[in-house]
Amino acid sequence: ACLQSRNTFGVPARAKVLVEVADASALPALFADPDFAANLSLVLGGGSNLLFAGNPAGVVLALTGHRVSQLDADDTAGASDIAIVRADAGVEWHDFVMRTVRQGLCGLENLALIPGTVGAAPIQNIGAYGVEVREFIHAVEAFEPATGEVHRLPAQACAFAYRDSLFKHQPDRYIVTAVEFALPRTPAVKLDYAGLREELDAMGVTSPAPRHVADAVIAIRRRKLPDPAVIGNAGSFFKNPMVPAAQAQALQAEHAALPVFRGNDADSRKLSAGWLIDQCGWKGHRDGDAGVAATHALVLVNHGQATGSQLLDLARRIAASVYARFGVALEPEPRVIGATW
Ligand code: EPU
Repeated sequence: ACLQSRNTFGVPARAKVLVEVADASALPALFADPDFAANLSLVLGGGSNLLFAGNPAGVVLALTGHRVSQLDADDTAGASDIAIVRADAGVEWHDFVMRTVRQGLCGLENLALIPGTVGAAPIQNIGAYGVEVREFIHAVEAFEPATGEVHRLPAQACAFAYRDSLFKHQPDRYIVTAVEFALPRTPAVKLDYAGLREELDAMGVTSPAPRHVADAVIAIRRRKLPDPAVIGNAGSFFKNPMVPAAQAQALQAEHAALPVFRGNDADSRKLSAGWLIDQCGWKGHRDGDAGVAATHALVLVNHGQATGSQLLDLARRIAASVYARFGVALEPEPRVIGATW
């Protein structure tokens, strides 16, 4: 099966076998066949967070379930303000966000317009404009091929951190089949991200509701990030690097403009990969059809006919130049298939 239209970079790739499963309850029977389990090489969501640098070796599995349902909130104090909404892994992320916003549920509005599916969201703990999805994940339902069991992992068991989770640590252990979200009914919008308030001001919104925040986020994203439907890309190609506080301080002493953010813990700081790459002169750079977005140095783009290995090659040269200049190692954010970083 052709995977070119199933990855948002739009690079060519082929799967020997592509299996689509609409109802995750069929997985135990499917995996009861030892041949199937042994040949599985990839679970594909919206294809928005991977780079095919080669073909996946075996079977590719896609979960296409698209049910959304509202569950009763846990019967704990104050829980009535929280709605528990469950969505199948195959639901389009942005459609899901807008549906919750329309229902008057709060929390996901800052994550509007992120490409991909609900099932992919917990894997890399998607985050944007001051919110990480882990803040609103109640539980993740996952099938474990090795045991044939279906698990319901509470958020605390998922080891969420910046662009990271248990599912990234053990990429083949679980197949995410559905996600339960805990969404407040009382709006408490988050406007910490620089630029969000300005955007709302420019829209003439003085007391923003979640739907206004979603509109503002959509406007910012449309301006800054290329639309994968128009030009192939996978969003940020690199994670923002975490470095020890002392290293961040030393770098800032040399480069006063270097943006530095809070890290995962007291001694770590997050640097801006986009800034580091931009300083090395890559923004808008193009090698054939493999390029760096003109609007954002952190986004690699396929101008048309680029292959995954050409994009990977460009990514390696970018990382090498950032390392040579700043001594900071960049790591890809999307999963690289068919090559090691
Ligand atoms: N910057 C530059 N040049 C650039 C791009 C950025 O100098 O070309 C600097 C600017 O100083 C800017 C700073 O980098 O203030 C941060 O840029 P931005 O606010 O765009 O955020 P980011 O850290 O580059 C992260 C996420 C994005 C998310 C935005 C907004 C990661 C890897 N990326 O990008 O997520 O949309 O914040 O919250 O954490 C994605 O993961 O695919 C993604 C798009």
